[in-house]
Amino acid sequence: TDFAAGDPSPNRPYAEVIGDPIAHSKSPLIHRFWLDALGIDGDYRATRVAADDLAAFFAARADDSHWRGCNITVPHKVEALGHVADPGGVRASIGAINTVFRQDGALAGTNTDAAGFWSPIGDLDLTGQPVTVIGAGGAARAILWALARVGVGKVTVLNRNPLKAAALLSSFGLKGQALPLTPQVPPAALLVNATSLGMTGQPPLDIDLSAMPDDGIVYDIVYAPLETPLLAAARARGLDTVDGLEMLIAQAAVAFAILFGTEPPRERDDELRALLAG
Ligand code: ATR
Repeated sequence: TDFAAGDPSPNRPYAEVIGDPIAHSKSPLIHRFWLDALGIDGDYRATRVAADDLAAFFAARADDSHWRGCNITVPHKVEALGHVADPGGVRASIGAINTVFRQDGALAGTNTDAAGFWSPIGDLDLTGQPVTVIGAGGAARAILWALARVGVGKVTVLNRNPLKAAALLSSFGLKGQALPLTPQVPPAALLVNATSLGMTGQPPLDIDLSAMPDDGIVYDIVYAPLETPLLAAARARGLDTVDGLEMLIAQAAVAFAILFGTEPPRERDDELRALLAG
């Protein structure tokens, strides 16, 4: 298996991102940029772990004292919960983890996607405000959980499969409506694309933004391309936008602090964004 060897350069701290496929993950670029910037002699890499190998992976790493933990991406975010302690109650709340770390001699799991989503819009007061979320997959789950915690108003979730949207609304106790995905959206203080539509190689997300108020914000979790068709349409309409690199970097920052025990140098985000966009 790919993961059996552990760190090829032993005696230094390391972490990794696991998934399948994993080759296109941006996480190694981000975490290595911060390790370099801070002068930490450590490593962060991408490791392909097949679904059947998840238990063997955690068993192998648990004995490796240099291993600080890992980030987790598709398809392991739900399954990994079964292999770790759950100090934050993520199992019952978000239902998926993206970070595993050592705690009290055991492996523990948490989810930094919710905090990462919230970080770029943390100054907004969305209390009682209408919000629209497109998508009902793993990313939408963390986003809706974060929105429920700040007490947003009516939430409209549009999804190709509207039954999944309805299930998420009820599981987070949100008031609102689940609708099939069409271009028509209601007015909202914030509209979020939590699907992969608009990503390079995927169809664009076709949304009619004319009902959005002039001070509405459009937030896309897709980061390749940086300017998705949705964000281009939002800018053309004069709306404020948040791009997917902001969430990507913010969720990684929370994970980096957990894995390496120190805050990353966020004042260097401009350099990091240029590196990631290039
Ligand atoms: P992630 O972890 O990135 O959220 P996911 O859990 O597979 O990935 O969720 C993908 C989301 O994108 C879902 O909302 C999915 O819609 P369905 O729930 O109906 O499957 C949506 N999605 C993906 N491809 C799509 C497409 N071609 N058209 C419409 N929606 C799409």
